[in-house]
Amino acid sequence: MDFSAVVTGRRMVRRYRPDPVDSDALERIAAAATSGPSAGYAQGVVVITITDEERRAQIARLAGEDDYVARGFEPWLSVAPVHIVLCVEPQRYRVRYSEPDKDAAALDIPWWWVDAGAALSLALLAAVDEGLAAGFLGAHAIPGLRGLLEIPVAVEPVGLITLGHPLPDRPSSSLDRGRRPADETVRRDRW
Ligand SMILES: Cc1cc2nc3c(=O)[nH]c(=O)nc-3n(C[C@H](O)[C@H](O)[C@H](O)COP(=O)(O)O)c2cc1C
Repeated sequence: MDFSAVVTGRRMVRRYRPDPVDSDALERIAAAATSGPSAGYAQGVVVITITDEERRAQIARLAGEDDYVARGFEPWLSVAPVHIVLCVEPQRYRVRYSEPDKDAAALDIPWWWVDAGAALSLALLAAVDEGLAAGFLGAHAIPGLRGLLEIPVAVEPVGLITLGHPLPDRPSSSLDRGRRPADETVRRDRW
């Protein structure tokens, strides 16, 4: 797909057809997510792809999908045929930034969150490029995810990307605030 069509065609989708996602497409999306830039080339982003129906249902329960549906939304996590859990390994950055060619002060900014954002964007855009849609739910909203997926204590789950063939959904109320005007978010030559 044309890159600008991918960028403008992306939006968070929270409702999908239950049909499976082609496994090669899923591999390409996971590869895209983990091929982004990383601070010091620490490569601390790891994704867990989940297609197993029962596991997805367990995650939906942890996220309180019943309450979400009771608030008038369609089921989201349980129906999405693919979950991709986005994780980061901070220790890889601490080790890398302790090496002689690096300045440890650079880690005043925890670069692993930046790399996670880059990975998220790549996954969301790769999904659109495959003719699919994606959504994102922060890990804070899925208590017990670490235990369910046996994520080691040194690894931080960032959130969960849902993937599938889109259906019309009820837009998030966050969108009511509208997009900030471009002359506020893109400035030229000075703030
Ligand atoms: C870092 C990050 C965290 C987000 N967390 C959530 C979330 O926990 N639940 C949710 O429904 N949407 C979440 N979103 C989606 C945003 O609400 C969404 O991107 C925003 O409303 C703009 O909509 P759009 O992406 O469709 O343009 C998150 C997005 C980002 C980038």
